[in-house]
Amino acid sequence: MQDWIKKLFVDPGMVGMGHDQSQNDLNLGLGWIYYGLARTIRPKTVVVIGSYRGFVPLVLGKALQDNGQGEVIFIDPSMVDDFWKCPDCVKAHFAAHEVRNIRHHLCTTQDFVNTEAYRSLGEVGLLYVDGYHTAEFAKFDHEAFADKMAPNGVVLFHDSVRERVTRIYGDDRPYTHTVCQYMDELRANPKFEVLSFGEGDGLTLVKKASGPGAA
Ligand SMILES: C[S@@+](CC[C@H](N)C(=O)[O-])C[C@H]1O[C@@H](n2cnc3c(N)ncnc32)[C@H](O)[C@@H]1O
Repeated sequence: MQDWIKKLFVDPGMVGMGHDQSQNDLNLGLGWIYYGLARTIRPKTVVVIGSYRGFVPLVLGKALQDNGQGEVIFIDPSMVDDFWKCPDCVKAHFAAHEVRNIRHHLCTTQDFVNTEAYRSLGEVGLLYVDGYHTAEFAKFDHEAFADKMAPNGVVLFHDSVRERVTRIYGDDRPYTHTVCQYMDELRANPKFEVLSFGEGDGLTLVKKASGPGAA
């Protein structure tokens, strides 16, 4: 694993974007939670919505490969730049890290839910929500897969603990991250268990509650 991380971190795009990684000690930061959960739950299907350069799909793909089975469905319309627009380059990008189980869909979640790939999707063990960071879009992403989640499935929301303005889509298109507002809504709902981490740009884990009052 250390050798794999060493190679991963040669690409500067794998060290930033708010996952609290550190290159000097080959520390995946929040990536350990992604990797550990995928090794523990052993999902056959993982869905990742949004990624700048593929850190999360790669770490989850690596975990599934180490499990010996499973596939990452990665949804990203490439809104930041053209990085995800060339299918062969995307394949080569993931293959360069020896991860071959990621299937990319060049579209928004809003479009993905109208595809055959969505309709035929098996039970989802992990859903990683890191697309457009407003409460409204995070809720859409969550609800789009709610009926497809495995009973022990976990949903992870990145950039989910504080409001902040981002200019990732251009200086002329700033917007405010408001995913934390949706986390507050889930926290107030007894149907869910919700646990947040403030490290990096923040992560929230959401599971269907199983105790009394959960129904
Ligand atoms: C830039 S990433 C956020 C950074 C992220 N924290 C990371 O680790 O890479 C957000 C991604 O979400 C994608 N995105 C934006 N709106 C989306 C939507 N409606 N559905 C799916 N993906 C979306 C963008 O193309 C972008 O690549």
